[in-house]
Amino acid sequence: MEKMLIGKGTGDAYLLSDKVNQHGLISGATGSGKTVTLKVIAEQLSALGVPTVIQDVKGDLSNISVPGAMNDKLAQRLEMLGINEFNFSGFPVEMWDVFGETGLPLRVTVTDLGPTLLSQILNLNEVQGGILNILFKVTDKEGLLLLDLKDLRSALNYMIERKDELSREYGNISAQSVQSILRALLTIEDEGGDIFLGEPGLEITDMLRTDANGRGVVNIIQANRLIQSPTLYATFLLWMISEIYESLPEVGNLDKPKLVFFFDEAHLLFNGISSSLEQKILQTVRLIRSKGVGIFFITQNPLDIPDSISSQLGNRVVHQLRAFSPKDEKAVKSVADTFRANPNLNTYSEILGLRTGEAVISFLNEDGAPAEAEKAMILPPKSSFTALDSVMTKAMVMTSPLYNKYKACVDRESAYEMLNRKILEREQELEAQRLEAAHKLELEQIEKAHKAEIAKLEKEKLKAEKEAEKASLKKAGQVGRPKKSVMEKGVDSFMGSVSRAVGREIARNVFGSLLKR
Ligand SMILES: Nc1ncnc2c1ncn2[C@@H]1O[C@H](COP(=O)(O)OP(=O)(O)OP(=O)(O)O)[C@@H](O)[C@H]1O
Ligand SMILES: [Mg+2]
Repeated sequence: MEKMLIGKGTGDAYLLSDKVNQHGLISGATGSGKTVTLKVIAEQLSALGVPTVIQDVKGDLSNISVPGAMNDKLAQRLEMLGINEFNFSGFPVEMWDVFGETGLPLRVTVTDLGPTLLSQILNLNEVQGGILNILFKVTDKEGLLLLDLKDLRSALNYMIERKDELSREYGNISAQSVQSILRALLTIEDEGGDIFLGEPGLEITDMLRTDANGRGVVNIIQANRLIQSPTLYATFLLWMISEIYESLPEVGNLDKPKLVFFFDEAHLLFNGISSSLEQKILQTVRLIRSKGVGIFFITQNPLDIPDSISSQLGNRVVHQLRAFSPKDEKAVKSVADTFRANPNLNTYSEILGLRTGEAVISFLNEDGAPAEAEKAMILPPKSSFTALDSVMTKAMVMTSPLYNKYKACVDRESAYEMLNRKILEREQELEAQRLEAAHKLELEQIEKAHKAEIAKLEKEKLKAEKEAEKASLKKAGQVGRPKKSVMEKGVDSFMGSVSRAVGREIARNVFGSLLKR
């Protein structure tokens, strides 16, 4: 087990590497020092070879890749901390971005995201959520791959077409509910959901890397744009922890964690979520420990995190909280009460009086029990405070060993293409059937007309013959081959032309051109 020095007070505040999977909380008012504390913890984890995943909401984290530099303020802090030797250092960073703008594109397929989180993103009600569940079942069964929004849209339309048949098997599916899911897709598209839903989806193991020197990679997820769509942000992060949970094996209690996840603006995760989803988060938070994963929640108001989850967070750093109203006071009191009491410290008033970069801390001790609350000054980070410029960020992204793997979106054959092909094939089949029926009808009509014509002509011929016979009887005594009458000649030539015409028409008919008459 390694001890990570995070702050100094009356004693040293060490975060123990084998207790990081008992999770943590970093909270405090704006500007109180949360991000710097997070950096200090992530740096030390990296030095121990532990990779981390951090959301960068304000764009002030990528500089963890650059060594810091001494200045008066830092020198003063180090002096107060009694630290004489301080080595600045940068750490290996991988930048990720859901929108693919300032990091490796972070994508997830619709199938991977699954119906529960998708319902959450689309803000669906229970009935619509149920329909989405059916959709996943049907597409799984029929081998229709749902990768992106296009696939989802085609599959929903396909569902409307087959709603009677599907309703019989799965229960009532109303076209109206499916339509409202289709409408919800438009909203998600506006928020950029069409960019992050697709392939190649993130392989979570790509976030579990160490560099050539054995230092853990700090995976920074650019979240400044993502945070504008809080539901998308929260759902994406929930998907990530569930994916981490699913992909990693049980390892029990390790000497140091395999991965540590930092949830910035954690209140967004819990804003308006259903109690069943909260239960799922709680369950994941509990169980992910034995997979060697630690989660830190970072939030301005610690009460934004539901009690059930807050009570699972063993390592606590609370920076200054402000109490402007009796309600605030009550909130700070209840936060103070979550600490193990220290007879020499009035936790409540200390929290109110903390200065920037100071905190009331309680880390889990070697026995796994929370240490007494302690006021401490947090160490400075070893990396830079200066923000990286866009050129440096871009260079970092483009030189990543993962760049080629993730840079381009791949649109392989999935539900959209398969259903389009199905529709096309069905249309072609129907057209062929229609043509065949028309041909048949046309042939029948021609044959009928032909027969009628022949019957008519034969009747006329017979009549003419009879008349001719009569005439010849009158002109008895005439010998030799009887000459054909004018009528007979006409009938003969007419017959010839009809049979030729009919022959021609049938031939044309066989080649289809008759239909165009
Ligand atoms: N441990 C520290 N060592 C040195 N400087 C610090 C430390 N903590 C905070 N500071 C100083 O205070 C500033 C604000 O801290 P920080 O950005 O961590 O606040 P925050 O709580 O994350 O605020 P916000 O809620 O607005 O994100 C830092 O930019 C830095 O100058
Ligand atoms: Mg911050």
